Amino acid sequence: MEGFDLELAARPAWRHGDYSHIPFWVYSDAANYQAELRDIYKGPVWNYLCLAAELPGNGDYKTTKIGETPVLVVRGEDGVVRGFLNRCAHRGALLCLEPRGSVKRLTCVYHAWSYDLEGNLKNVAFEDGADGRGGMPDDFDKSRHGLRPIEVTEFCGLVFGSFDPGVPDIETYLGPESVRFLKRALGKAPLKLIGRSTQVMHNNWKLYLENVKDVYHATILHLFFTRFRLNRLGHEGGIIVSDSGAHHVSYSKMDAERGNQDYASQDIRSTGEGFSLNDPSLLDSIDEWEDGITVQIQSVFPSLVIQVIQNSIAVRQILPTAVDRTDLNWNFVGFEGDSEEMTRTRVKLNNLVGPSGYISLEDGAIGGFVQRAIRGVEEDSGVVRMGGDDVTTVDYRATETSVRGFWKMYRGLMGV
Ligand code: FES
Ligand SMILES: [Fe+2]
Repeated sequence: MEGFDLELAARPAWRHGDYSHIPFWVYSDAANYQAELRDIYKGPVWNYLCLAAELPGNGDYKTTKIGETPVLVVRGEDGVVRGFLNRCAHRGALLCLEPRGSVKRLTCVYHAWSYDLEGNLKNVAFEDGADGRGGMPDDFDKSRHGLRPIEVTEFCGLVFGSFDPGVPDIETYLGPESVRFLKRALGKAPLKLIGRSTQVMHNNWKLYLENVKDVYHATILHLFFTRFRLNRLGHEGGIIVSDSGAHHVSYSKMDAERGNQDYASQDIRSTGEGFSLNDPSLLDSIDEWEDGITVQIQSVFPSLVIQVIQNSIAVRQILPTAVDRTDLNWNFVGFEGDSEEMTRTRVKLNNLVGPSGYISLEDGAIGGFVQRAIRGVEEDSGVVRMGGDDVTTVDYRATETSVRGFWKMYRGLMGV
């Protein structure tokens, strides 16, 4: 029998205007990953950085990353939130070492250069030398060695950052529908952080963002969703894709009557025959939303996912840490003024999501299944043709339109 040398098989090229065939090498190619960090994360996009609620007081800071680049966000003495590279201007050491804190000055541990909260270099240890000898030369100008600023904006209690001064304003970037749904999810009152966790995923960052946009999988992979009828493809709902393709919202309305037989006829494990809840109060919810929508999943390219499942609200941050590794930071939120009962209900429903959530735990594994399976597979592409080949908003959900939207935006930024 003739052998088949995978190493020598030709890589499929991107086809013009085709968002339905995705070469598998884009999830594992190291050079492509470096190009993404440059052209996407440092490009004209808004990256989610933190909740404004994490910086309640002047001097409060939070460290995070844009792509793999450490940044810090700090609320100044004037109450304004600013962002900087988390990097000392002297020799480049990490400036803030803690995930969060509160300071009057930002002082580097290495040689104690210190900066005010607007990023100005204020103090250089031994600037005039010691015992009258050494020190900085006369032409050393502190005003030229401040922290590197990044663009920062706030929307609906979320703080975003960008490396690109030419990035559009946040509402233009999001488009009207994404704005509308972000306001729906988060805009009722100031947010309150009620929990957080970080999940390490053994897959390329794109596989997670695609997974979030892939509504098709949700009621097939996630037995809990389907078995307990929180979500079925036959339920009333739809997918909104922004004009750029970058962002999406999927929404649905739980319905005890619709979409039942579709699953039984298709040999799908998630029908979950034989599974039942010992404590059905796990799913108790409070009627909070006026529009009947019970599941809203929303992505903001390239690093943010907003999820509202009944009273469980989460702000998820996607951070690539290597070509085949991704951190997913979960922020579980409620609102200032929530009753104790509402907070309890949110906390209980949060068992559905997070790293070991009854619904979302499979998402932590499935990207790794892809990553493991595509090793050495240079000659093949994935197929994203459910619902046709368009990138468009639809009022049904048996479609991969929003995944194709991702590739439209991605290819535009990457120039491929
Ligand atoms: S590297 Fe920060 S003070 Fe030297
Ligand atoms: Fe999922």
